[in-house]
Amino acid sequence: MNEIKFYNGENIPLELHKVRVVQKLHLVPIERRLEALQEGGFNTFRLNTKDVFLDMLTDSGTNAMSDNQMAAMMQADDAYAGSQSFFRLQKAVEEVLGKKYFLPVHQGRAAENILSNAYVRKGNLVPMNYHFTTAMAHITQYGGKIAELLYDEAYVINSSHPFKGNMNIEKLEEVIQVHGAKNIPFIRMEASTNLIGGQPFSVQNLRDVRSLADKYNIRLVLDASLLGENAYLVIQREEEFKESSMNEVMQIMTGLADLVYFSARKLSSSRGGGICTDNLDIYRELEALVPLFEGFLTYGGISVREIEAMAVGLYETLDETMISQSPDFISYLVNALDEKGVPVVKPAGVLGAHVDAMQICEHIPQKEYPAGSLAAALFLISGVRGMERGSISNQRDEYGNETYADMELVRLAVPRRVFTLSQIKYVEDRMNWLYENRALIGGLRFVYEPPVLRFFMGGLEPVSDWPQKLIAKFKEDFGESL
Ligand SMILES: Cc1ncc(COP(=O)(O)O)c(C=O)c1O
Repeated sequence: MNEIKFYNGENIPLELHKVRVVQKLHLVPIERRLEALQEGGFNTFRLNTKDVFLDMLTDSGTNAMSDNQMAAMMQADDAYAGSQSFFRLQKAVEEVLGKKYFLPVHQGRAAENILSNAYVRKGNLVPMNYHFTTAMAHITQYGGKIAELLYDEAYVINSSHPFKGNMNIEKLEEVIQVHGAKNIPFIRMEASTNLIGGQPFSVQNLRDVRSLADKYNIRLVLDASLLGENAYLVIQREEEFKESSMNEVMQIMTGLADLVYFSARKLSSSRGGGICTDNLDIYRELEALVPLFEGFLTYGGISVREIEAMAVGLYETLDETMISQSPDFISYLVNALDEKGVPVVKPAGVLGAHVDAMQICEHIPQKEYPAGSLAAALFLISGVRGMERGSISNQRDEYGNETYADMELVRLAVPRRVFTLSQIKYVEDRMNWLYENRALIGGLRFVYEPPVLRFFMGGLEPVSDWPQKLIAKFKEDFGESL
């Protein structure tokens, strides 16, 4: 949280960086935005960025890189084996995440594939605070199931609970006793629980999970993709750590896990991913899978230039002025939307602002995908690309039935140091307009549904001519404005 006060009393986040490389944006007319949606099956993943004004799909691989990261890319040591770039990264992992043994992988889901391949067997159960799409897909691919064990408060949209990502400790013990520790290959804790609105867990909660992992002798795996932001919110919200540094909090958290993995596309504003541990046996169990799926052990499918950027990016996660930028902008957007009555996940978390399509589109039944509809409608009227995080992002059960999501959210990601405050104000303005005209938004149905991770490439169509009606109202209110 930056402490810089404005004389006029305004409470706005102030950027502590300057922009030195820019990319031109285009805001195409609304008629073209409709064509783009039709071409992309009303699925924001399938849009072409030439049609997108503000890309708020994700922070994954879209955080701004620093000058030091770019400079480091120039000193990359190209070598199949034994690259100096790898050793610099290994050192960064040890100094930032506190783990000795490191396995590089090409991105976060590659780590999930390796963990699931090594540990998940048919009939196994993996308890977690909440699933992430790719984590769940890999576990089920290897015959396992997941159990999501959040407290009820996590599902309350309008909440002031500081740690909605906490694991429900009582339920965790119950699940272990019912299923038996031998059927549980690991417990997975996800930092800043992505799919429920970027909500953190507390260090105390992680300690409690650790105690149960010790009691029942089960591995504890930490998904650290959003660890920096989780640590930042721990410093903000957990009394015991209010004087602690980012490095202290991050190392306390990673120190509680047997095994830590991450998407470097998020954690270090680069590309790549990794798995790290202090346990030599675990390292040995996973080691052989890296050359099999990823590449030799000193590059793991990542370009050496990205390895250099990753090393510098890891150190930069310790800089509070860097790590706070996205959560502070998110908090600004969440509060602004909340003041206008737009239902939005509270308290503000990390990664993005999450608007609640279940309430905004309460007239759209879940079988017509309210979050997917809202994401499409927002793109249509603004050129802002958000991401559906609701039932379309869920996978069907083993019998092919729809499983409706607990929450129907549209995530408006705020990648680190990418947007200006006036762009955030534009998002707020268009979202407010859409909220006032929400009755015009209609549902969607699948016309093409892939069997795995359907939300990425699935194609949908509107169930009525609602997009045309929305355009007519937009023209009435905005005239020729884009
Ligand atoms: C919490 C979490 N875990 C894992 C992943 C997967 O990482 P990747 O996209 O690099 O494969 C993501 C990606 O967004 C994530 O948010």
